[in-house]
Amino acid sequence: MHFNAVLLAVVLFGNLMLQYASAQNAGFVKSPMSETKLTGDTFELYCDVVGNPTPEIQWWYAEVNRADSFKQLWDGARKRRVSINTAYGSNGVSVLGITQLKLEDSGTYECRASNDPRRNDLRQNPAQTWIRAQATITVLQKPRINSSDQVILPTPPEMSHGMPPPPLPAVILQCNLTTAHNAHHQSFWMKNGEEIDNTRKESTNTEHKLKKPRAEDAGEYMCVYTFEMAPNANATIEVKAAPLITGHKRSENKKEGENAMLYCKSVGFPFPVWIWRKKVADTWVNIDNSSGRFFVTSRNSYTELNVINLDIATDPGQYQCNASNIIGHKSSPSVLRVRSHLAPLWPFLGVLAEILILVVIIVVYEKRKKPDEVPDDDEPVGPMKNSTNNHKDKKVRQRNTN
Ligand SMILES: *[C@@H]1O[C@H](CO)[C@@H](O)[C@H](O)[C@H]1NC(C)=O
Ligand SMILES: *[C@@H]1O[C@H](CO)[C@@H](O)[C@H](O)[C@H]1NC(C)=O
Ligand SMILES: *[C@@H]1O[C@H](CO)[C@@H](O)[C@H](O)[C@H]1NC(C)=O
Ligand SMILES: *[C@@H]1O[C@H](CO)[C@@H](O)[C@H](O)[C@H]1NC(C)=O
Ligand SMILES: *[C@@H]1O[C@H](CO)[C@@H](O)[C@H](O)[C@H]1NC(C)=O
Repeated sequence: MHFNAVLLAVVLFGNLMLQYASAQNAGFVKSPMSETKLTGDTFELYCDVVGNPTPEIQWWYAEVNRADSFKQLWDGARKRRVSINTAYGSNGVSVLGITQLKLEDSGTYECRASNDPRRNDLRQNPAQTWIRAQATITVLQKPRINSSDQVILPTPPEMSHGMPPPPLPAVILQCNLTTAHNAHHQSFWMKNGEEIDNTRKESTNTEHKLKKPRAEDAGEYMCVYTFEMAPNANATIEVKAAPLITGHKRSENKKEGENAMLYCKSVGFPFPVWIWRKKVADTWVNIDNSSGRFFVTSRNSYTELNVINLDIATDPGQYQCNASNIIGHKSSPSVLRVRSHLAPLWPFLGVLAEILILVVIIVVYEKRKKPDEVPDDDEPVGPMKNSTNNHKDKKVRQRNTN
């Protein structure tokens, strides 16, 4: 009994020492970074802290960076434009977000962390119980860009008499930088998120010309102005056109049990909504997927129909992809052929059947012939070998007389 009590005391003390030894002051793994933003945009600041026990995280803000001017921020402040999301696990991680930035959101943002048990004791100096990391956020007035309106390219008539349709009149996209917080550095144009080569300029007015616009010129165009030490400013001009299918698989030939793949790709903008249909009794109907073997994957201007474990009874036939956007629609047919498992055996089976028929004919013939083997009256009786020879000779002679 006495010994057990001592042991218990030793174990308890040991545990206490272990806990003490592994206790760790709060420390930053990731601290918020200073940024320059434009009005109307959004920013997020990250703060990641280690410590044992897991430190508590708070966010503070001051318009001017003076210790006594900081005020604590809370989730939902500034008419709900401020959000604070914090997760406590082995680390403490917190994200401060502010949306629809205003000029007056500029200032110093501070992430504070502490696992000091006295951290919320008002008699303590917070500077000693909390660690702090600061970021400066500068909000600039968003530059104004006067840009041309969206363009809708007319759908050219179908090719007639093998002649390509006449080119459409040129389209000119314009951007004028009207007000800016600072002198801009350069401007350039982008299409569908990619910079267009040789469009970098220094003037405040910039234009991009589509000389002979076609459906593939449709897309989301953007003029971008760059600034020293400030975010880019940009304006978007949409050039819309009905979809045009520029590539598709005309036919797919597979064996039953295999997988088939049909695809279509298009030009035109906005990117189309894709639908796959099948021709049943001369009308296009949505594909019956009750067997769960049809899979459609569509991304922007590309769609793919995959049919797995082909069924020779239900799957062969005409399919079509249909691309539609707000300007128009277009579809293209594909043929799916499914062969039987036995198909590759057919030539072999054919030969086998021929051999069988031959054998049958020979057997039947030989059977019929048997009674004829009895020597004819007008033939001299001789050795078997000769008899057949004579028989042959006779036949040949008979044929010759014909
Ligand atoms: C923008 O351009 C239009 C004509 O394209 C013009 O009427 C308008 O005054 C311009 N706005 C500014 C702020 O320059
Ligand atoms: C841009 O400026 C040019 C020249 O001042 C003017 O002709 C054009 O209409 C302007 N474009 C837009 C979209 O404001
Ligand atoms: C365009 O402007 C928006 C809003 O300011 C910004 O979020 C985006 O990154 C800019 N895009 C480019 C390519 O500059
Ligand atoms: C067909 O059914 C399978 C299984 O239920 C499903 O995963 C697949 O997305 C369906 N395909 C289509 C085109 O609806
Ligand atoms: C393609 O889909 C659109 C929208 O559902 C429809 O109006 C159009 O008739 C379809 N085209 C064909 C050829 O089926």
